[in-house]
Amino acid sequence: MVGMDRWKGKVALVTGASSGIGRATAVMLAKEGMKVAVCARRAERLQQLKKELEAGGAKVLVIPTDLQKEADIHDMWKSVRKEWGGVDVLINNAGLGWGGALVRRTDAEFRQMLEVNVLALTICIREAILDMANRDEGYIINISSMGAHSMRPGNKNVFYGGTKHAVKAITEGVRSELVERQSKTKIGMISPGIVATEIAEVGSRGRTSAAARAGTPLESDDIADIIRFMLSAHPRVQIHDVLVRPSSG
Ligand SMILES: NC(=O)c1ccc[n+]([C@@H]2O[C@H](COP(=O)([O-])OP(=O)(O)OC[C@H]3O[C@@H](n4cnc5c(N)ncnc54)[C@H](OP(=O)(O)O)[C@@H]3O)[C@@H](O)[C@H]2O)c1
Repeated sequence: MVGMDRWKGKVALVTGASSGIGRATAVMLAKEGMKVAVCARRAERLQQLKKELEAGGAKVLVIPTDLQKEADIHDMWKSVRKEWGGVDVLINNAGLGWGGALVRRTDAEFRQMLEVNVLALTICIREAILDMANRDEGYIINISSMGAHSMRPGNKNVFYGGTKHAVKAITEGVRSELVERQSKTKIGMISPGIVATEIAEVGSRGRTSAAARAGTPLESDDIADIIRFMLSAHPRVQIHDVLVRPSSG
C-alpha cells in the first residue's frame, strides 16, 4: 500500500456531500489533506460541514447544486475550475431511490432517479476526464450499489436497481475508453449493501428498516474507508468494483 500522501493538496469533488456516505467521504478526504469541493441541494448542511472542516485547517469549497439541473452541473464545474483549476479525484456519490412495487411509483420519481443517478453522474465523469487529462493521475469513483449486481425475484427497488446497473455499465465502458487512450485517469466503483443513511430510512434506533431485517447495517465511514483504500493503492493498481455487505447479511 502506497498511501494518501500523493493526494495531499490535490482537489477532490464529492457530490451529495450533505449527508451519509458523501459527507463521511468529504471529512475523510479533508483529513487526508485534500482540498474538497462539496455539492448538494441543502446548502446550509454544506456550510456547516465547511465550518467543521475549516476549524481543522482544511480547504473546503461549497457549491450548492441541484444535479437534476444541467445548468447547475455546468456551473459547479466552472466554480471548481475557477477556484482550484479543476479536479484530481471525483467521488460521484449523489443518488436516490425509493422502494416499493414499480406500479406504485410515478413518472416524476423515475425521471428524478434517472437524472441524478445516471445523467448527472455521466456528465460529471466526462467533465472529470477533461480536467484529469493533463494530470499525472486522476481517479473517478462512482458509488453504485449491490443492486447493480442482481435483480432478485421479489426485488422492491426495480428502477433504482436499473439505474445502478447503468452505473456499472457506464463505469466499465469508460474504463475501456480510458485504457484505449492510455489515459492516466482511473475509474472504479463501490457497490454497497445496506448503509445506515437517510436514503435507507434510518429508524429511531439508528437502524434502517431493511437493516432491521438483515442485522447491523454498514456505516458511512465504512464506505469512506474503502475510498481511502482505493486511492491509497499503488498507481499501477486499478480497483474495478468493491462489493461490500454488512457482515450480518
Ligand atoms: N445507504 C445505502 O444503503 C446505500 C446502498 C447502496 C448504495 N448507496 C448509494 O450511496 C450513495 C449515497 O447515498 P447515501 O446512502 O449516503 O444517502 P443520503 O444520505 O440520502 O445521501 C444522498 C446524497 O445525494 C444528494 N442528492 C440527492 N439528490 C440530489 C440532487 N438532485 N442534487 C444534488 N444532490 C442530490 C443528497 O443531497 P441533498 O438532498 O442535500 O441534495 C445527499 O447528499 C447513493 O448513490 C446511493 O444510491 C446507498
